[in-house]
This record gives sequence, C-alpha cells and structure tokens, in this order.
Amino acid sequence: MNDILLEIEKNPLAKQIATTVGIPLPPILKRYKGPWKERILEDKKIQVGGYGKTKVQEILATSLLKAGAQIYINPSIENSVRTIYEEARSGLGGIFLTEQDKYDSLVFDATNIQNPDELKEVYYFFHNNIRKLGSNGRIVIIAKADEDQKTLEGAVCSRGLEGFTRSIAKEIGKKGSTANIIYVRDKAEDRIEGVLRFLLSELSAFIDNQVFRVSNLVKAPKEIPFHRSLDRKNILITGAARGIGEKTAELIAQEGANVILVDHPMAGEDLGKVAERLNGYPILADLMDPESYNKITFTIKEKFGKLDGVVHNAGITRDKTIANMKEEQWDQVLQVNLKSILGLNQSLLDNVLEDYSHIVCLSSISGIAGNFGQTNYSLTKAALIGFVKHLSEQVAKRGITVNAVAPGFIETKMTAVLPLFIKEAGRRLSNLSQGGLPEDVGQLITFLMTPGSYGITGQVIRVCGGALIGA
Ligand SMILES: NC(=O)c1ccc[n+]([C@@H]2O[C@H](COP(=O)([O-])OP(=O)(O)OC[C@H]3O[C@@H](n4cnc5c(N)ncnc54)[C@H](O)[C@@H]3O)[C@@H](O)[C@H]2O)c1
Repeated sequence: MNDILLEIEKNPLAKQIATTVGIPLPPILKRYKGPWKERILEDKKIQVGGYGKTKVQEILATSLLKAGAQIYINPSIENSVRTIYEEARSGLGGIFLTEQDKYDSLVFDATNIQNPDELKEVYYFFHNNIRKLGSNGRIVIIAKADEDQKTLEGAVCSRGLEGFTRSIAKEIGKKGSTANIIYVRDKAEDRIEGVLRFLLSELSAFIDNQVFRVSNLVKAPKEIPFHRSLDRKNILITGAARGIGEKTAELIAQEGANVILVDHPMAGEDLGKVAERLNGYPILADLMDPESYNKITFTIKEKFGKLDGVVHNAGITRDKTIANMKEEQWDQVLQVNLKSILGLNQSLLDNVLEDYSHIVCLSSISGIAGNFGQTNYSLTKAALIGFVKHLSEQVAKRGITVNAVAPGFIETKMTAVLPLFIKEAGRRLSNLSQGGLPEDVGQLITFLMTPGSYGITGQVIRVCGGALIGA
C-alpha cells in the first residue's frame, strides 16, 4: 500500500540519489493533528489582496484575526481597507505584518470585480507574490457568485476566476501548495468564516482545485463554535469498521461527538475495536437488508433520542465491464451504495434527525468522470450527487445541510487491491502527485458536520489533490 516515492522523499540519502538521477518526488504534505483549535491559524502569515472596500474584507479581517493569523495587507488595497482591519484589531487584538519574504497563504477578494479590465488586479497580485508563497502554502480566491452579478461582464469575470484558480493550482502543486475558490452569494458573506478556517489551515492538505459555493439557503444556527464544535452531538457513520469511515469517526469523536458506528456483522470484531477506542456505540447491520434501516433508526431513538448528523460512508465495488457484469453484481452495488442510503436517510429524517443537522454522502471521482468497469459503481456515486442537490433544497428550511464528498485516489484497503499501474496513475495524475489519506477525507467530512459549514449545502466537493481525471 505504501507509496514508494513518498518513502524516498522522507529518507535523506534515498532522496539525494533520486534527485541526482532525476526522479521527481512528490511533496510531503503537512496535515493537521489533534482537536481543532480556536486559533487554528496561529502564526500563519497571510497576505490579503483584493479590489476595493467590500463586505468580504470585513469578514476576512475578523475571521483571520480571531483565528490567530498575522496579516499583511497588499499596498494596492491598503487605503481602501485599512480602517476595516484597524477596527477589527481594536476588538480582537492581533498582528499586522510589514512586507515579508514568504507567506503561508495568499488570499484575494475578487467580489468587487465587475469587468475584464478589473481582472488585471488579480494578475498583479499573483504575478508579484506567487514566488513568496511557501511550501504547503494556500491560495484562496473569493469571488461573487455569478448569479448575483448585475451584468454579463461581471458574471463572466466571476466564472473566469474558476479557470484561473484551477490553473494556478497546477503551478504550485509540486510544492504541496493548493488553490481553491469560494463563490459567495450576496448576504451570505459572513458564512465564509468557517470555510476560510478550513481552507487556510492544514485541515485541507489534500483539497485542491475545488469550488466552495457559500449561500444563505439554510437557516443560520444559533451558535457557531469553532472549538469542540461537536460537543453533545450524536453522529452516525456507516462503514465505520475500517478505511475512510473509521478515520472519519475518529476525527468526529475528537471534536466532542458521540459516534454511532454501523458496519456489516462480518466486520463485527473490527467495529467493536473501533467503538472501544472511540468510546462509540456500535450497531451491527447489513445494509444489503432493507430491514436494517429501521433497526438502526430505532436503536438510535432508544439509546440517544436524537441524531445531529449522518455520514453515509459504507460502499462497495463489484467491477466488471457491462458485458461481463452479473445481475447480482449490479444489484449489490445499487443496494449498498444507493438504495440503502435513500432508505436509511428517510427513516432517520422522519424519526431522529434534528433541525440544523448535517448529512454527508460519500460519492467518488468515478461518479463525476466515469471509470472503466464501474458502470454500476459510477451510477450510484453520480446518483448521490443528484441526491444531495435535491434533498438539500427540501430540508433547507429545517437548517439541515446535505453535501457529497468525492474522494479521488485515497490509500485504503479498497484501493490497495488495484493493479500497480492503475494505482500509480491514481497517485501521480494530480497536482500533488500522490494519493490522499483517509484523514484527508475525514477532515472535510468533519468540517461539513460542524455548525461553521452552514453556508455550504447541495454541493459535491472532491478530496483528490487536484486530480486531472474528471477535473
Ligand atoms: N478509497 C478510495 O479511494 C475511495 C475513492 C472514492 C470513493 N470512496 C468511497 O468512500 C467510502 C469508503 O471507502 P473505503 O475506501 O474506506 O472503503 P472500505 O472498503 O475500506 O470500507 C467500507 C466499509 O463499508 C462496510 N460495508 C460494506 N458493505 C456493507 C454492508 N452491506 N453493510 C454495512 N457495512 C458495509 C465495510 O465492511 C467496510 O467497513 C465508500 O463509499 C467508497 O465508495 C473511496
């Protein structure tokens, strides 16, 4: 399962030999460890640019200072935004920097850009600063949602910035750095705080090239804690005995939640160990069996009374070309990856899921791009993208968010069995030229379970290191 090139990168002698003979090595990614801190950006040096005085600059000032970041304001906007930042600092404290040689992040507020000439500000900012972005750096661009632009020119500028972000991500990936874009709807500006904290910290090490759409579709929760933000929450994770499900359960438990862990009876021993380690509650259930849905729901009702989040993670593959696929292989994949999610989710919504809860489904790059020999699997994973889109609209008035996470190539038992050539392609054909780890997917899911993600619903976000496939 080990990535040999990453092992070489970690060993100084082997690295020297590889570099001498010209083998390109993937960057070592810095990943966040431990419970999420209130000041998650402590000591991060962040340069902020933009175009004019905007509501987003106000949110940037307070969010970054609250999270402990040190800020350098690009001279081109200094005059327009200085008072915003001074006011934020008078309440929150914090450090403003003079110009530095290196920054951990470059953040550009493009929400005021309305015509192609104004895009020149984006060019100047990144042209002048990209070499100052350190390794494992972050670029975040914030743009106005094209739906809210008043002119055609404005709308095309907003849309164009997605292409800019995707290309700049390719230029910085070899240093382990990432670029993502946030599209914010009018009056949803204050909802970007949680997204910024996630994207600018090491929580998002393998999230690259992604679009985060922030809207005010769901009702705002009363409190938005950023530390121990899942205290007293009950969260269900299916397929929790191993892989992505196990790691996600660990990260969710670390933020204070009671984790309720479902897996197949055949994985009972492993599930028991995970439950013991996380002080979680195991439920053995075969999602192949429709009777399992109510069994799970009523166990939760009896033991916990309510549920605050569900991660539909259990999934299987039965790969064959359509000509060679047996009917049972089709049926099994549709049952576990799709029908069980529809059935269990409805049962949970009707009986235990609280207002302001969060639903996350595990989709896949295969559901976005298709994959040879995976017609059954890709169908189910694409169906889940439709599921989150439509269900999110239905439950928004209850404050419930519904999103899909689409892993690219993640190092788990599911991918360990793939032929070496396919594994190597999965790892190298991405901006970060390596596979992700279960914790990379788990951190995004954990974020989507927290109140701070309330601006995000109905979306599919990839955890793929900027994979070329399906981009
Ligand atoms: N690993 C990847 O690269 C990758 C990529 C894209 C999507 N995904 C998706 O992420 C999810 C987790 O993937 P993983 O790699 O951790 O998989 P995995 O095979 O390691 O774990 C899946 C878990 O689901 C459980 N499960 C399977 N059938 C079940 C059933 N009938 N009833 C109850 N539990 C059942 C298994 O026992 C196992 O514990 C899946 O939905 C998968 O499709 C994974």
